[in-house]
Amino acid sequence: MAAPMLCLPPLLRCRPQFPAMRGPGRGQAWRSSTGVVMQGQSQAAGGEEADSEVSARKKMFTEVQAEGLEQAQKTVLISYPTGISKRSILQYLSRHGNINSHFFYEGHGPHAMVEFSERESIYSLQDVAQIACCSSVPGIPLKSRLFTLTPRQSLSQALDETSVHNYQHPTIPVEDLVQKLCCADSISNQMYSLLNEYQLTEENIKLRFLACSLIQDIARAYFPECVVKPFGSSVNSFGKLGCDLDMFLDLDEIGRSSTPKKTGAFQVEYHIKRMPSLRTATQKILSVIGDCIANFSPGCTHVQKILDARCPLMRFFHQPTGFQCDLTANNRVALRSSELLYVYGNLDSRVRALVFTIRCWARTHGITSSTSGPWITNFSLTMMILFFLQNRKPPILPTLAELKNLADAEDEHVIRGHDCTFVSNPNKINQTENTETVDVLLNEFFEYFGNFDFSSKSINIREGKEHNKPEPSPLYIQNPFEQARNISANVNQNQLDRFVALTRECAWLLQQVDQDHGRDNKQPWGLAALLLPLIKITKKSVGTRSLASSRIKVLLNSLRANSTNKKGERAFSSWSLK
Ligand code: GTP
Ligand code: MG
Repeated sequence: MAAPMLCLPPLLRCRPQFPAMRGPGRGQAWRSSTGVVMQGQSQAAGGEEADSEVSARKKMFTEVQAEGLEQAQKTVLISYPTGISKRSILQYLSRHGNINSHFFYEGHGPHAMVEFSERESIYSLQDVAQIACCSSVPGIPLKSRLFTLTPRQSLSQALDETSVHNYQHPTIPVEDLVQKLCCADSISNQMYSLLNEYQLTEENIKLRFLACSLIQDIARAYFPECVVKPFGSSVNSFGKLGCDLDMFLDLDEIGRSSTPKKTGAFQVEYHIKRMPSLRTATQKILSVIGDCIANFSPGCTHVQKILDARCPLMRFFHQPTGFQCDLTANNRVALRSSELLYVYGNLDSRVRALVFTIRCWARTHGITSSTSGPWITNFSLTMMILFFLQNRKPPILPTLAELKNLADAEDEHVIRGHDCTFVSNPNKINQTENTETVDVLLNEFFEYFGNFDFSSKSINIREGKEHNKPEPSPLYIQNPFEQARNISANVNQNQLDRFVALTRECAWLLQQVDQDHGRDNKQPWGLAALLLPLIKITKKSVGTRSLASSRIKVLLNSLRANSTNKKGERAFSSWSLK
C-alpha cells in the first residue's frame, strides 16, 4: 500500500521564542497605554519572584501561536533504545543540519525532541529513513516526523553526557506539593510556589505544538492548507502539567490568503460539496480525519469519535508525546476565548497564581474533575475568578466591555454573528493600582463566592457585574462571546452546594492561620492545609477545640447566607459537617 504523502508548504519565517507567561500588577484605568515597552512593577507580596521573569514586551497570543507552530514544523521526534548515548544521537542528527534546540524525555520509552534550524534538515533525514520492511508486525508505512534511531553497532555511553539537556515530564503529586508548601514563609509564597511547580514548562509547550503539527501532517493528506492549532489551557496561560491538549483544525486558513485574483473576463470558483449544516460538515471532517488518525497515524491510540457533543470532537491519546488530545473543528470562538484568557493571564502576575491555586484546590476536593459531569469545569471556575478580580476595589482586571473599547480595527472579530472583539495586545492595557496580595485575594475569593447569591444572580465577565439570572440553572455563567449561553449549564445544585460549602469553610480556615506557623513547620498550614481533605485539615491544623468552633462558624455562616441566598440552606451538606 502506498504511504500517504505529506504535503508540507513553505513556512513563515519568524524568530523562535517562547512567551513570558507572567505579568506584573499595577495600574487602574483601562485606557489604552501608548507605551509598548512595559516594565514589571508589582508590589504584591510574593510576586517578586514572578516579576523577575517579566519580559519587556508581552507577546500577543497570535505571535505565540505562529512561533510555536513554526518551530514545531522544523521539529522531529526520535525514539531510541535504552542505553544509547544521547550525545551520539545529537551528533548523528546534526549531520542533517543545525540543531536549534533539543531535549530528551522518558515517555513511552526514551525520546528526543529535536528542532532543526531549517526545514530542509527534515527532508534530509527523511531521505535516509527506511520503511522497516522486515518487521514481523504487519503495518502501514507513513512518512512522518516520528523516527526510530537504532545503532548499527553498539555505541559507547562513555561520551560526556553532562551537557545534554534531559527533560522529565514533571508532575509532582499533591502530597509532595503539600510538603513543599509547608516550607514557604507566607501563603502568597505558597501560591507562587504552587504556580512554579504546576505551570507548563517551555519543553512541555513545545511538545504540545509538535503534537499539533504531527496531527496537521495527517490532516493535510485531505486538506493540504489546513492548520492544527493548540487552544484551551495548553496556550491560555493557565495550563497545568498533565492537562489535556485541545486542538483546533482550522480550515479557514484555506483560501484566507486568496486576495481577489485577476482572472480576466470570468470569475473562477472551486466546486464545493454542499452540506445540510456547518455542524454536519464538522462531524464529517472530524470523522474522516479521526479514521485517518486511528488507522494510519503511528502512536495515536484510544481514538474516540464524540461527534454528537455540542462541540463535536475526536479524542485520542498521542503516545509519543503522552498527551490526551481533543481535536475539534469550526470552533473559532473557543480559540478566541483562549486568546481572551491569555490576555487576562498576562495582565498581572497575581492572576495566574490565583487561578492555579484555586484550580488545584478545586481539583483536590473533587469540585472539578477530569471527566465530564454535573460539576464545575476549569473553564467556568476561571471565569468566576476573573469576575471576582473585576469586582475588587480598585478592579484588578478590566471587563470584556472595557477590553472591547481598547480594540483596534485588527482586533475586530465577529464569529458566526457573535461579537468577539477585544484588544489582543496585552501591552495596550494599563495596569491596576490595586496592590492586594494574592493571599488576601484567595481569602476574599472564598468569602465572595461563599456569600454570592447564586440563586438569583448570574456571572458575566463582559460587564463585570451581577445580573438577574435569565433561567433557573443553579449556576449561571454567561458565555463571554455566545452571550445567550450559560457555560455552566451542566452544573447541578448538589455540586454548587459543595462548592459554596467548601469556599465558606476555607475562608474561615484561612482566617485562622496562626501567624507563627513557621515555628514547628511540621503541620501543613496555610495553602498546604487547604489542599488536604477537609477533615484532615480541621483535626491536624486547627485542633479539637477549633474543630468545634469551625462547625459553629460554618453554621453561623450558613444562617447569614440564608438571609440573602434562599438556596444556600442546602449548602452545608452532611459532607462538610462530617
Ligand atoms: P483544562 O481543564 O485544563 O483542560 O482547561 P481548558 O481551559 O483547556 O478547558 P477544556 O479543555 O474543557 O476546554 C478547552 C477550551 O474550550 C476552553 O479553554 C474554552 O476556551 C473552551 N470551552 C470549554 N468549555 C466551554 C464552554 O462551555 N463554552 C465555550 N464557549 N467554550 C468552552
Ligand atoms: Mg483543555
